[in-house]
Amino acid sequence: MRSTVRYSKSFLLTAIAAISLTVSACSAKNDETVDTTDDMRAFLAGMPKAELHLHLEGTLSAETIVEITNRNGIDYFTTIAEVEQALANRPPGLMGFLEHHFKSQNVMQTRQDFYDATYSLIEKLHENNVVYADVFFDPQAHTSRGIAFNDMFGGIDAGRRDAEAKFGVTVNLIMCINRERSVESAFEMLDQAYSVREKIIGLGMDSGPEYGNPPVKYEDVYARAREEGYFLTGHHDVDVRDSVKHIWQSLEIIDIDRIDHGLNAIDDPELVVELARRSMCLTGSPVKRSTDPAPQDVDRIRKLDSAGICVSLNSDDPEEFETGYLTNMLILFQEASDYTKADMTRLVLNAFNAIWLPDSEKDAYIAELKKYAVANGVEWNNVTLN
Ligand code: HPA
Ligand code: ZN
Repeated sequence: MRSTVRYSKSFLLTAIAAISLTVSACSAKNDETVDTTDDMRAFLAGMPKAELHLHLEGTLSAETIVEITNRNGIDYFTTIAEVEQALANRPPGLMGFLEHHFKSQNVMQTRQDFYDATYSLIEKLHENNVVYADVFFDPQAHTSRGIAFNDMFGGIDAGRRDAEAKFGVTVNLIMCINRERSVESAFEMLDQAYSVREKIIGLGMDSGPEYGNPPVKYEDVYARAREEGYFLTGHHDVDVRDSVKHIWQSLEIIDIDRIDHGLNAIDDPELVVELARRSMCLTGSPVKRSTDPAPQDVDRIRKLDSAGICVSLNSDDPEEFETGYLTNMLILFQEASDYTKADMTRLVLNAFNAIWLPDSEKDAYIAELKKYAVANGVEWNNVTLN
């Protein structure tokens, strides 16, 4: 799908070793002067962007949550202060994150709630100059609470349709398996989605824990999804036990088309070679909590980028992390990495390259990105590096 230079295995292994030694000392990759001023911020804000890793359930603002709890008569999260306090006091780690995430997603009950969440997300994407997005949604998290699949999906799809028309953003949907649930439940989700499968571009995975719920658990579900026409993505949160082993499973057993997170790949040089060989794209998500000094994973993303891997930046759960939506995340990443405008453009180009659309449509997005970057003084050769 993606035209890229293929590197030999020995070249890559040598390059990765060299990068590991030098990357912490090195800043940007080319001679362009690093600019962390307002000019850089304006450049990043105005850039046309693609967002490929975004959980609908993580985009509920405190205001939206309170509005929904009030209209649904729910007895928690009735004030913005309560939501903010709960966010600030989350336990560390993925499971602590998920505890809060589940509680806030559970306020959504009606078709209208799903419509509103989707519509306001797309409005936010537009404010961030995101022109294309893939949005994850978690049917099992809702149907397991007694919400009808058709109410949930009907609200999401109608919100998407109306907001796409209003804001001119193209949005595709990726349905996620909650990995801690049963295989039967995942098959049931595919059954429920069957009649609307053409409105869903991909099947992914999320939730947790990942350890004990590896990709191979869902081998048969993924195989059926492939037959039904879905693209496939694996979700590998950073620094969970056996992450590298699970990424290999996603590649070799599931034969996924894209990887969400997956940044621990940099720990295994052979895996980096394999990712390059497959032109596999990773949706990185250098989120930051209020207690973190800087976005997480900047060094890992820089190393993967330096090794020629297609890695992009994505906001994941923008209302649940201080990084927020994509423009702000790009700014925080740039400040932490000292990347140049050309380097930042490359990370956004990687997202456009990883979109599951025909080449002609991807090329049109990339032409717009190139036009914008060049008009802002970026040397395109420094973006592609190949
Ligand atoms: N990891 C796992 N599950 C999730 C995430 C995540 O980052 N966000 C929402 N659900
Ligand atoms: Zn995620």
